[in-house]
Formats: sequence, C-alpha cells, structure tokens
Amino acid sequence: MPMDRYVITGKQRLEGKIRTSGAKNASLPLLAASLLVEGKSTLLDIPRLADIFSMIEVLENLGAKVDFQGEALIVDSTDVSRWEVEETLMRQMRASNLILGPLLARNGRVRLSKPGGCAIGSRPMDQHIKGLKEMGVKVKERHGYIEASVDQLKGAGIYLDVPSVGATENLMMAAVLAKGTTTIYNAAREPEIIDLQNFLNKMGAKIRGAGMDVIRIEGVDKLYPTEHTVIPDRIEAGTHMVAAVMTQGDVEITNVIPEHLEPVSAKLRQAGADVSIGDDYIRVKSKGRIKGLDCKTMPHPGFPTDMQPQFMALLSIAEGTSIITETIFENRFQHVDELRRMGAHITLEGRTAVIRGVDTLEGAFVEATDLRAGAALFLAALSAEDATVLEKIGHIDRGYENLAEKYRNLGAKVLRVSSEGSV
Ligand code: EPZ
Repeated sequence: MPMDRYVITGKQRLEGKIRTSGAKNASLPLLAASLLVEGKSTLLDIPRLADIFSMIEVLENLGAKVDFQGEALIVDSTDVSRWEVEETLMRQMRASNLILGPLLARNGRVRLSKPGGCAIGSRPMDQHIKGLKEMGVKVKERHGYIEASVDQLKGAGIYLDVPSVGATENLMMAAVLAKGTTTIYNAAREPEIIDLQNFLNKMGAKIRGAGMDVIRIEGVDKLYPTEHTVIPDRIEAGTHMVAAVMTQGDVEITNVIPEHLEPVSAKLRQAGADVSIGDDYIRVKSKGRIKGLDCKTMPHPGFPTDMQPQFMALLSIAEGTSIITETIFENRFQHVDELRRMGAHITLEGRTAVIRGVDTLEGAFVEATDLRAGAALFLAALSAEDATVLEKIGHIDRGYENLAEKYRNLGAKVLRVSSEGSV
C-alpha cells in the first residue's frame, strides 16, 4: 500500500549476505519487447515490484496474457491487437512509454497518453519522437496524447541530442523489424541497454554495439519467442553497498555484475570504505567514518543519477564537506528537505548541493517523495540515532523487492506498518 510506513530503529550495524533481485530498469524494456513476437516469451528473475505489475497491466490491456509460473514470468503476446492503452494505466508509470517502439513495429499504430512528469523532472519524449519520425513514423501530439502510425518502418541514421535510456530502447525496438539498417548515434550506454540487445538478438534480431554510443540494428522480417534471465539490479546493489558503509557494517551483496557497479565502488573506495569484488558478489566493509568527496551524476559509465539520493544520505554523515552535482534531472533533490529534518546540513544552489557532514543524523518523521529519495531516507534512518518513521513507502515498493525482510536478515530493526494500522 502506498501509504504504508516503516518504523526503523537506528544505529543497527548491518552484517551478512543480501541477494540483489533482477533489474527493474532492464525488466521493463524486456516486458515491452515481448510485444514484438506472436507467442510465449519466458523471462526469469523478474522482480516482483509495483512498477513491474504496472507494466504487466499495460501488456494485458493490450491483449497479452501474462502470468508468473514459479520463478518464470510468461508473456503470451499472440493476440495483441489493440494499439491504445487506458489513460489511467499509462499515467501510473512513466516507463509504460516503452510500448511505443514495439507496438509500431508490431501493429504500425499506437496511441498513448504522455506519461507526464514525475517528482524528479518533466521527463520529455522529444528524442523518442525525433528518432521515430526519421524512421518514417507520422506523429501527432494533441491533448497530452501521442498518436503515431507508419505503414513500414524504415532504417535511418539517428543522432540523439541526449543519450536518453528510454529513447535508445524505444528506437532499438522499433528498428528490429524495420526495412533496412538503423544506426543510433550518441546512444545511452547503460547495462540495461545491453540486456535488451541480448534479449532481442535471441529473438532473431541483428543488433550490435549496445553498451557503446553507436548501436547498429539491421531490420529482419520476423522475430521468435525466446527465454531470458534479466540482469541483476545495479541500483539496488549500490543501495546495499551504501547501507553497509552508513551502518559501519560488513555486507556481502550477491547476484551482482561487478563491472556494472564500478562507478559506485570507485566512489565508496575514495570515501574510505573497503570494497572487494568477486565474480558475482561485492563485499563492502566500513573502515570507520568516511571522508567527504565531490560527486557528479553522468550518463553511464559515469556516476548514476539513481544513486545520487543514497549518496547524499551517506555524505551527510561524512567527515568534511561534499559537493553533489545532479546533471541528469532538473528536480532530483526532493530528499534534501527530509534529510534536513534528520539533522543534515545541506544547502542547494540550482543543481548543486553542498553537504557539510555531521557526526550523526537523528531519527524523525519523514516521508518518501519518490523512489530513490525513499531509499535515501531508509538508509539515513538505519544510521540515525533513535527511531525514524518513514511514510509513503509505496514509492520504495516500486524499486525494491522485499526490502524490510532483506534488511532484517542483516540485523536491521525495521517494522512495516500498513496504513490501516496493522503490523
Ligand atoms: C531511465 O529513465 C531510468 N528508468 C531512470 O531510473 C534513470 O534515472 C534514467 O534512465 C537515467 O539513467 C528506467 O529505465 C525505467 P532518460 P528514462 O530518457 O529513460 C532527458 C529509477 O529511479 N530526455 O535517459 O526516462 C530527460 O529529461 C528511474 O529507477 C530528453 O530531454 O531517462 C533527462 O533529463 C528514475 N528527451 C535525461 O534525458 C527525451 O526524449 C535522461 O532521461 C528523453 C529524455
């Protein structure tokens, strides 16, 4: 329930092992890509998160049949005849806009409500639309809707003004069945893009270059259902790494791909933490109070914006002064006011935050304003003095599977209280 709350007792040292779930931001495009084939796709290790259930609702609204069968999620998109999704479903989650590319490739037509802004920014789609138009798509934007249609998608050379993750994914999924070759320049390089390429190539697509800034897609006539295990969630794993440091703990995070976390590992080492890497795990040990540092969010392989709030919580108890610059989203400092309520000393100048470290945060009543802000406050509460009540944790449910249970296994004292008051 979105209005549930956590009651968190601070100063609990975390110790032990925690398994990362499958990546939310890889699972969402994989689900959308399942629309490209007539038949049953099998997806493994998909996390049971609110955002995943929202995307499943969107696919079902289009005519697909989607069920969890044990560990597997089966998407049967044989009868996907509809090309329009109910407004309420579309506005529930921004990433539902990832149906744009696959539906155009499948049915040549789609009408979707622009998912609208969210707490962290306006979330425009101009790059998605620019690329589709270059592939021959007619696009009308009226009354907050996007109406797009095309007889036959054609390959094109597309230069993205910004390395947008969503635009790169939508254009890849449109291009796989286009006539001719599409080249995306200044493409996003996130690991989730590589996972999408691997899934599509298993379906019979011909894509090369994901993970670099030029991706080449040779259109094919048909794609076939396949099976795929989603990559682990690097942002969930990074959140756990910060939790270990903030609680002076010693935590081994399993089911990770270490190179996906290089930017986070490097920063934590710079701050003075002990980060050791295995082939599919990372162990983080605190070596005492961390030192302040400067941090600037950048597209991958730079420091991820989705780890910025969590790092702000970390740096608010560092020794010395730190500077965080958020270059990706224009409004991703919603967590600052709530951290201040816990005693953090943070001043904002536009997209720059100056954090003067304090010895410890204090428990308080705070609320999650968005997914990663909620995660930051969860971490702050674990390290603070006394207890913290964290409200509106539905935001956190969107991106973290079984969070309280996973942390209780590490020694945290976290109670989930439902909005109806039951524990
Ligand atoms: C994806 O969002 C992630 N979501 C976000 O994670 C992540 O923060 C973001 O990439 C950046 O890494 C999913 O993958 C579902 P973008 P996306 O298009 O694709 C501008 C989380 O917490 N832009 O790369 O929407 C845009 O305004 C979420 O898990 C345009 O200008 O991000 C933003 O400033 C939050 N025009 C920047 O690019 C466009 O057409 C990055 O946006 C598209 C984007």
